[in-house]
Amino acid sequence: MKIDLRSARRPVAELPGQLRAVGVVSGALTEAGEALDAAAGGMLSKALKKGRFRGEEGETLLLWEGERYLLLVGLGGKRGVTPDRAREAAARVAGEALRLGVREVAVENFWADRLGREAASYAVAEGLHLGSYRFVKYRSGERPPRVRYWIARGRGRAVAEAAVLAGATLYARDLVNEPPNRMTPERLAEEARSLAGEAGLEAEVLGPQQIEALGMGAFLAVARGSANPPRLVHLVYRPEKPRRRVALVGKGLCFDTGGYSLKPTESMRHMKADMAGAAAVLGVFRALAELRPEVEVHGVIAAAENKISGGAYVVDEVVRAMNGKTIEVGNTDAEGRLTLADALAYASRQAPDAVVSIATLTGSAVVALGRKIAALFATDPRLREGIERAAAQEGEKVWPMPLEPSYKKLLRSQVADLANVGTRHGGAIQAALFLTEFAKGPYAHLDIAGPAFLPEAWELGPAGGTGFGVRTLARWLKE
Ligand code: BES
Ligand code: MN
Ligand code: ZN
Repeated sequence: MKIDLRSARRPVAELPGQLRAVGVVSGALTEAGEALDAAAGGMLSKALKKGRFRGEEGETLLLWEGERYLLLVGLGGKRGVTPDRAREAAARVAGEALRLGVREVAVENFWADRLGREAASYAVAEGLHLGSYRFVKYRSGERPPRVRYWIARGRGRAVAEAAVLAGATLYARDLVNEPPNRMTPERLAEEARSLAGEAGLEAEVLGPQQIEALGMGAFLAVARGSANPPRLVHLVYRPEKPRRRVALVGKGLCFDTGGYSLKPTESMRHMKADMAGAAAVLGVFRALAELRPEVEVHGVIAAAENKISGGAYVVDEVVRAMNGKTIEVGNTDAEGRLTLADALAYASRQAPDAVVSIATLTGSAVVALGRKIAALFATDPRLREGIERAAAQEGEKVWPMPLEPSYKKLLRSQVADLANVGTRHGGAIQAALFLTEFAKGPYAHLDIAGPAFLPEAWELGPAGGTGFGVRTLARWLKE
């Protein structure tokens, strides 16, 4: 895929391209729209006056000028203008560009009058880039999109930064969309290694023997049932003078059948996306290499598959995690927290100032918040606020959830230090509480089971992996 984003000093009406896109605010043309209208012999204003198109948010109207397409983009009213609205409007332009197969497009810097040119350029560039994503690798005869976008009266620096974060997000989408027969733990680790090679990061990859030597009994129990062996990935981004040190831990289940606590057919669908947390971590590292913030960042991924075989783990087993705690397996489908237990203990050994995990951890988080919002848990309010602020800037939706201490008793076991499952209600909270037993110091956890993978096309892309969390975490590390 080749998306070329450029900012231009000139207005839309003077830019090249087979498609020119301008906004409609409260039923009227924007200033850029009026200039384009004048250049197009009043075509746009006539369409608005005589037709029924009102330019509600989400609506578009496509016209043919004789030389090129003109696109009216409904931006809604002037109240409550946010970068999210500019980003989504831009993504709609990208969708039209792809549908029409045009290769060069000029776009108004939507809402620049309200948001400022800098913030508007950033949002529009992100929207164009994210909205241009397609996963066509396995479709015969389809080529990945190639489009050049000109953002009229845009700001170059903002556009360049947006391209880094959006590009890293699309990389994570690619990893998630890759089918599970290809994206095995071994492949995921190779991906991390080649990313490190390209981006000048440190990478260490451990196999089963080394994982065992570290005492990661919980992680290994999950991995045991699959013919594809596990990998532990440790990436490091090391700047010259780090102001702080952070560890990111991503859930890397390349496929989750549930194990012997087998998932029903419908629930197993899309479980290739159970490595979306790991993909997000790799996406963040890709962005780090370009943003170069003064933070030392460790990335830890415990990559495995949760499958069934004669050797697979069963319920009632007791396993010992790397930090010495024993866990009774009550349900083999609560495998993510077992792999993360060891990954968190390993990450905590680096004694970072903060640990953040990102995982498609519970169906319960989807029940609570739906498919667009991630659940955010934190042991430290400053850490939580930092992540919330970054998410808001990037238009990724996260919502704070409680680490209710009294629920810890739900994870008690008769035979081990704790159980990997509790009761039915409040499952996302119980899972997060379980994880806190393995992380040291300030800790935050993002349950992205809802937003990591969307079964239908959405505002910022097609159905499939979303790359959720890449922009939030990269922004958080940058600020
Ligand atoms: N990978 C799933 C969680 C999930 C569900 C992700 C739906 C994306 C969409 C996780 O491993 C899991 O199976 N969790 C169980 C936990 C339960 C057994 C306590 C769940 O949520 O049902
Ligand atoms: Mn599971
Ligand atoms: Zn899982």
